[in-house]
Amino acid sequence: MGKQTFPDGFLWGGATSAYQFEGARDEDGKSRSIVDNSINAHYTDTSITSDHYHHWREDVALMKELGLNSYRFSIAWPRIIPSGNGATNPKGIKFYSDLIDALLAAGIEPVVTIYHFDLPQTLQDQYGGWRSRQIIADFDHYCYVLYKNFGDRVKYWLTINEQSNMFALPYLLNLSGDESEERVKFQMNHHMMLANAQAIIRAHEMMPHAIIGPAIGLSPYYALTADPQDVIAAHNATVFRNDFFTDLYFKGTYHPEVMNYLVADDLVPDMEPNDAALLMNPAAKPDYLGINYYESKTVRAAPRDTAYHSPAMSVTGEDVRVGETRPGLYQEVANSHLPTNEWHWEIDPAGLRILLHQIYDRYGVPLIITENGIGGVEQLTSDHQIHDDYRIDFLDKHLVELRQAIAEGVDVIGYEPWSFMDLLSTTNGFRKRYGFVYVNRTDEDLLDLNRYKKDSFYWYQKVIETNGMSL
Ligand code: BG6
Repeated sequence: MGKQTFPDGFLWGGATSAYQFEGARDEDGKSRSIVDNSINAHYTDTSITSDHYHHWREDVALMKELGLNSYRFSIAWPRIIPSGNGATNPKGIKFYSDLIDALLAAGIEPVVTIYHFDLPQTLQDQYGGWRSRQIIADFDHYCYVLYKNFGDRVKYWLTINEQSNMFALPYLLNLSGDESEERVKFQMNHHMMLANAQAIIRAHEMMPHAIIGPAIGLSPYYALTADPQDVIAAHNATVFRNDFFTDLYFKGTYHPEVMNYLVADDLVPDMEPNDAALLMNPAAKPDYLGINYYESKTVRAAPRDTAYHSPAMSVTGEDVRVGETRPGLYQEVANSHLPTNEWHWEIDPAGLRILLHQIYDRYGVPLIITENGIGGVEQLTSDHQIHDDYRIDFLDKHLVELRQAIAEGVDVIGYEPWSFMDLLSTTNGFRKRYGFVYVNRTDEDLLDLNRYKKDSFYWYQKVIETNGMSL
């Protein structure tokens, strides 16, 4: 057999999100989002980031030069509807409309994320954001505005980014992270599921040719040892961190093990009589699933009397990263077989193939990798180079596994690595860079915001040009 390649029409892309990339936080009518107001504790804020809002033409030209045939970006709700649920902002509509036109003119298919953590702060203040059922109607209206304005040109849509991580990482939802908020979390999750279902139904009504689904952060869960208690812990983690969310998306039902747990701990969210019908409506079934993959996770059994712990991310690289512990179910631990990046994230290319098989076996729908990448500290050389061999190595190995999964029968339609260009890392600002293109600024100093192509840019260009044959 000859060297394997990727399917014809495979989407080769790169990903970004609005609050991490655009800047112009307070410009042209945009209001603040909850992440604008929360993500600045340890580094810089979201006011300028990569200043894409003012460099977008140049950035699209770089995408074209890279050879992308798709590009994943998110639309900022507070730029489109600054009050969250009132009038639309013509300047916000125009910004994205012009961007979409420029992408299409460059032969680049837009892949649009509707919600990437940036809830308008006004809705948080009005009624507690995702805590209230009111969010479902407001999100529906926001989606309506997007479909009406961009649905003629955008075919690929992603509803909500990383729903499961939003509940694991409390700062993304203005949660405290205390166990006392467990019930609130499950209630918010329920609202988000209903909003997601409604967004998909409306998309199918208004844009018959659209392809729409959520983008979720997933990891395969490994047992630390062959002790059956650890194997059960890996099963539990898979159910609670993966299947719980994806079953609600694709089957419209609560996983029975999760429901039993919610009942036993008095955590069942308030539900209304029509909720089940909405979740199970065939028109609400996603057409595909976006997967953000960074690492696998390893767990062992956790006794009932262990302390509860939500995951804590490393914010400096020097500090320790703490895994999640769910008493009686599982406890995250390090995997001694895997190397880590500078922030203790375990590097596991084969884990991507394992995960793709697990998800495809369970749901049989097309998959798209909506994020995959490695962050690192980088220093521009005096002749404006970035020698990011570690990124090339990371992406190369993941793409080889992805190609193998496709050869084994998994339907993967595209790859949108994180990130197209350097942007503000959610946990580490500009100290932790992900892009194929370097943005000349630091957390402390804006410098000139010039763009410089990294070594990985030329490597990825070749991968795309050869449809993966160069791997
Ligand atoms: C994903 C998010 O969780 O991971 C992105 O969708 C984020 O917004 C990315 O930037 C990488 O995480 P971090 O914390 O290193 O920026």
